[in-house]
Amino acid sequence: MTPDQRFYRFLTLIEDYYAGGERSVDHPPPVRFPRPITEPEPEPERSAAPGRGDSLDAVAREIAACRACALCEGRTRTVPGEGAAQPLVLVIGEGPGFDEDRSGRPFVGRAGAYLDRWLEAIELRRADNCFITNVVKCRPPQNRDPASAESQACLPFLQRQIRLLEPRAILSVGRIAGQLLTGQTATMAALRVHTHSYRIPGLPEPVPLVATYHPSGVLRNQSLRRAVWDDLRRLQKLLADGGTPPAAGAR
Ligand code: URA
Repeated sequence: MTPDQRFYRFLTLIEDYYAGGERSVDHPPPVRFPRPITEPEPEPERSAAPGRGDSLDAVAREIAACRACALCEGRTRTVPGEGAAQPLVLVIGEGPGFDEDRSGRPFVGRAGAYLDRWLEAIELRRADNCFITNVVKCRPPQNRDPASAESQACLPFLQRQIRLLEPRAILSVGRIAGQLLTGQTATMAALRVHTHSYRIPGLPEPVPLVATYHPSGVLRNQSLRRAVWDDLRRLQKLLADGGTPPAAGAR
């Protein structure tokens, strides 16, 4: 597919959405992580730093037993994330919504179908070369933004996932994830202007981070599509260049 064909396809996504096409998208079948969790286990000790022997399964089990913030009270299922064990890209959203809370899988609702199409446009697929997760792993009531204390309570899980996955790049979607990961309080429009570097103890190199809008926001506001496409192209170029973090201030 040429870049122009991809761009055209991207522009037609919103029409697909109104035609109901988003709802008919099949999600890729088997995922490697996490393995299904049937029984919650007794709460193990939480740690921000993975020791030797840490694993995505261990993180998922600890998330399933977590009661560190009030979001645990209203959850049906925890949503640790899923995808490739050695992904090119780690996608980080805000938190589970209604469908995710019921299924235990991230981004399976309408926004998730739209996100899958964004990824597909730059040759990424959640089951093959991406891992998809959220800042918080339990659904905030009425889909409100996670409170800062809730994001902070969940951050050690996300940091362990990043260390274990060692992604070539991070794509954050939405203001909540963008602000948390960049440490900035800027608007989404400002956050997306530069490629950031996410530094984390335990990882030798900073991970390049592209911050873009949330698929739900773009479904509501079509005028953001062009910006998202530019961000996805930047991510694609970054991966093609080997995922090297940009020089400070570079786009
Ligand atoms: N929105 C998010 O930010 N994450 C999900 O998993 C679903 C919707």
